[in-house]
Amino acid sequence: MPKLTYLGHAAFLLEGAGTALVIDPFLTGNPNAAKKPEDVKVDWIVLTHGHGDHLGDALEIAKANNATIIAPFELATYCGNKGVNAHPMHIGGSHEFPFGRVKLTIAHHGSAVVDGEQIIYTGNPCGVLITMEDKTFYHPGDTGLFYDMKLIGKMNPIDLAVLPIGDNFTMGIDDAVKATELLNPKKVVPMHYDTFDIIKADPEEFVRRVQEKGFEAQVLEYGGSLEF
Ligand code: NI
Ligand code: MN
Repeated sequence: MPKLTYLGHAAFLLEGAGTALVIDPFLTGNPNAAKKPEDVKVDWIVLTHGHGDHLGDALEIAKANNATIIAPFELATYCGNKGVNAHPMHIGGSHEFPFGRVKLTIAHHGSAVVDGEQIIYTGNPCGVLITMEDKTFYHPGDTGLFYDMKLIGKMNPIDLAVLPIGDNFTMGIDDAVKATELLNPKKVVPMHYDTFDIIKADPEEFVRRVQEKGFEAQVLEYGGSLEF
């Protein structure tokens, strides 16, 4: 069974199929980070978009582990230009990796690296479906609610989804509850809350409200894990 560990914010460690991946490893500067970047041992890094709270420590982790970054084309190119291994993909595309299948989905958001006063745009942001050991995990990246979530869930039955609930930059709780209904995952876990004052949200409220609609849901502590 694949194992998911919450590293805080939108960062997750996914272990299974004899390997380990980290998604959106924002650890340095994340007050809730459950690991230090030097303690992350992975073969693969998946990035949804270029914002600092998602790109995070990806380049350092990639270099230290000789890991490969899987990202939307423009962001993968940015990372490749920084000297790390990168596998570019794009929206709607899927690829079979040694650990399983990765498919990128739309996300309604932005994507850029902010370097001092310079903004380097890194294409479209994405969500990601990862199928490993016959289980499908969905990390939507940062996004607002969109109705195509219904199609995503229908065509790619989701065993475990993580959804942003922090509002302001992404869905808040009301929209994340609706997203759960559209995606129809076997289980859902909230993310992207409380890291900064502006995204304070109560994850227990989200869990209670989706449970009332018949979904399995759980708050993961920082550093907490679940198998699915
Ligand atoms: Ni973002
Ligand atoms: Mn974010």
